[in-house]
Amino acid sequence: MSKDTLTITDNRTSQTYTLPIEKGTVRAMDLRQIKTGPDDFGLMTYDPAFMNTASCQSQVTFIDGEGGILEYRGYPIEVLAEHCTFLEVAYLLLFGDLPSESDLRNWVYEITHHTMLHETTKKFMEGFRHDAHPMAMLVSSVAALSTVYPEARHIHDPGNRLLQIKRLIGKMPSIAAMSYRHSLGFPYVYPDNDLTYAENFMNMLWKMVEPKYVANPVLARALDILFILHADHEQNCSANAMRSVGSSHADPYLATAAAAAALSGPLHGGANEEVLKMLDEIGSKENVPAYIKKVKEGHGKLMGFGHRIYKNYDPRAKIIKWTAEQVFGVTGRNPKLDIAIELERIALEDDYFVTRKLYPNVDFYSGIIYQAVGFKPEMFTVLFAIPRTVGWLAQWQEMLVDPEQKIARPRQIYTGHRTRQFVAIEKRRPVPAMKH
Ligand SMILES: CC(C)(COP(=O)(O)OP(=O)(O)OC[C@H]1O[C@@H](n2cnc3c(N)ncnc32)[C@H](O)[C@@H]1OP(=O)(O)O)[C@@H](O)C(=O)NCCC(=O)NCCS
Repeated sequence: MSKDTLTITDNRTSQTYTLPIEKGTVRAMDLRQIKTGPDDFGLMTYDPAFMNTASCQSQVTFIDGEGGILEYRGYPIEVLAEHCTFLEVAYLLLFGDLPSESDLRNWVYEITHHTMLHETTKKFMEGFRHDAHPMAMLVSSVAALSTVYPEARHIHDPGNRLLQIKRLIGKMPSIAAMSYRHSLGFPYVYPDNDLTYAENFMNMLWKMVEPKYVANPVLARALDILFILHADHEQNCSANAMRSVGSSHADPYLATAAAAAALSGPLHGGANEEVLKMLDEIGSKENVPAYIKKVKEGHGKLMGFGHRIYKNYDPRAKIIKWTAEQVFGVTGRNPKLDIAIELERIALEDDYFVTRKLYPNVDFYSGIIYQAVGFKPEMFTVLFAIPRTVGWLAQWQEMLVDPEQKIARPRQIYTGHRTRQFVAIEKRRPVPAMKH
């Protein structure tokens, strides 16, 4: 018998089954043959929150959570952050290889020439309340692009897919900047094709009456590095949303809106905003031990700490710390950094955090940089969504061409009532409110 197999004995029937092990996994569908009788549906796996289930085979991003390793298409994140621009990394994630000089020139040209938004987008935006969360405006506006590009539904046409991919990458900063200007009541700024991806984003955010916006090169590069670090992270909550919604063959604007909605939650991309709120709540270095005590007693979480996959350190957090130094060289030191460093120092010595393998994640320092650069905390998750769009699209494209993928449709273990007697409305008793 091959060594790469798993032998299972079903003690209900004393029957033995041998299943192949491939790439460290058994196929859940191979368990279906394990039955107690002809009427039995067959054995299923139960895995709430996908704690131990691979939902796809992927060649986009590799993570070794124990080793603290993150690679895009085989290149370590540290190397890409040091040597590449964000659009170069976007090309890598989408096409599998780093671009040649001329490929990159064409790619940058193409993305740059898709940054303009259809004027109707302005009208959607104007409909939002002045205090709407920029992330909610972004999600809605991306979904609304589906109305502007109805041909995007032809997802099986590779040329059409690529056009929508370029549009989404090009327009994401434009929508993000529009949502920011809307919340301030400032006029929207049109893209400037002379600028790089990050510079143009800064231009659309902050240009006032000057004829030409000139970005600080250190801050623009820092933003570009942050974009690289956030570009993909394999099968996280939002990538899973992208694949799941995309698996129904919804168009990429709607699938991207769903992914962005998943990102907005405080347990995912919303964490960077929560970190800043937490640092504000702590107020000063002296209050850190008391705050940690509160967390250990079960009152809230240390935001920006912990990760489902990284149980050693998050390699992105290291690069972010370095980037923070460069940014503070220009902007001056964000006083919240001292609180954060103290929090990290105490937490990393504390048994509670050590035994649970809770380390700072990408969100712990990114918010402090964003604030120093001039972003409001409400914009932080939007800053995450811009580069992550590339990852979502790479995952979406991979899913669509994978012959093993179908519409994503998990199973359940039903634990509710069965075949109840119907009771006429006048005979029903009130349902206790808390039951829902
Ligand atoms: C990221 C996160 C959702 C991962 O969650 P997870 O893999 O489901 O981990 P669990 O919630 O099972 O955590 C395991 C244990 O560590 C504790 N824990 C996890 N993150 C914690 C945090 N940030 N602060 C305090 N305790 C934490 C849990 O309470 C749990 O303790 P227990 O075993 O005593 O019950 C979680 O760590 C978290 O909420 N972090 C804060 C939000 C954040 O920074 N998100 C950004 C992720 S990039």
